[in-house]
This record gives sequence, structure tokens and C-alpha cells, in this order.
Amino acid sequence: MRILVLHGPNLNLLGKREPETYGTATLDQINKNLSTLAGRHKLDINCFQSNCEGELITKAGSALTDYDFIIINPAGFTHTSVALRDALLASGKPCIEVHLSNIYKREEFRHFSYFSDIAVGVISGFGEHSYIFALEYIIKNYL
Ligand code: DQA
Repeated sequence: MRILVLHGPNLNLLGKREPETYGTATLDQINKNLSTLAGRHKLDINCFQSNCEGELITKAGSALTDYDFIIINPAGFTHTSVALRDALLASGKPCIEVHLSNIYKREEFRHFSYFSDIAVGVISGFGEHSYIFALEYIIKNYL
């Protein structure tokens, strides 16, 4: 099983970015924790971050041939990107949407997501653990 983890814009700044909202873990730490858990279950995992919508779209599209499952935190694109949603649909692969913060507790514009209705499920509000919960779900249900 090959898993693609997609991180959207500004998540490269985790650790320093609004720590009261997003926590203090860096993206590198989050990716390392995911890789450790994946390694224990002999899963292939590739983590990719970009601030560019087009790069995320291209990577999501590559899941058509290169990956079996997608974990995605679309970040700001959650609330804006039809094109990234279309790329996930084009991949034909199941995905889990994750957010560090609880988007439903925040500004109203964050309550709508272009991804929730096409995702297996949404995990929002558990900080860095949101990603781990997503991977644990895949391990329990798809291996
Ligand atoms: C986020 C929530 C989004 O609303 C925001 O734009 C982000 C991060 C989260 O992980 O909590 O950049 O996806």
C-alpha cells in the first residue's frame, strides 16, 4: 500500500505559524511521526508540501498510477479549490481530509470544505494527531 500525504499552503511554517491555533510541531516532525508509524506496518509513505495549487494538483493526479490512498490537509485551499478537488476525484483513490485546527470552531468561511463530501472522512481539531489518526484508520481498515 502506497500512501500520499499532501500538505497545502503555509504548512511549511508549522511550529512557528500561529502556534496557539496550529500547535508547535513542525511539518518535519509530523512527517517523521507518520513515516515511523508507516514503517512499522511496512507501508510506503510519501509526504509532499507545496504553497502552489498547481503543484498539489499535479501530485494528487499522480495518485492515479502511483498511490493507493491519500491523506490531505488542503489548508487554505480547503475553502477555495475546485481544481484540487477535481484532481483528487481524477485520481480515483480514497482520501481522508485532515486539519490541525477544528475548522468548525473558527470563522464561518472555514466551515465549508470542497473536500469533505468526497473524502472517506474528516479529522479536524486534534493538532498533529489528526494526521496520525488518519493513518491509523487506514492501517485498521485497509491493510
Ligand atoms: C487548516 C485550516 C484551514 O482553514 C487553514 O487555512 C489552514 C490550516 C488546519 O490544518 O487547521 O491553513 O487546514
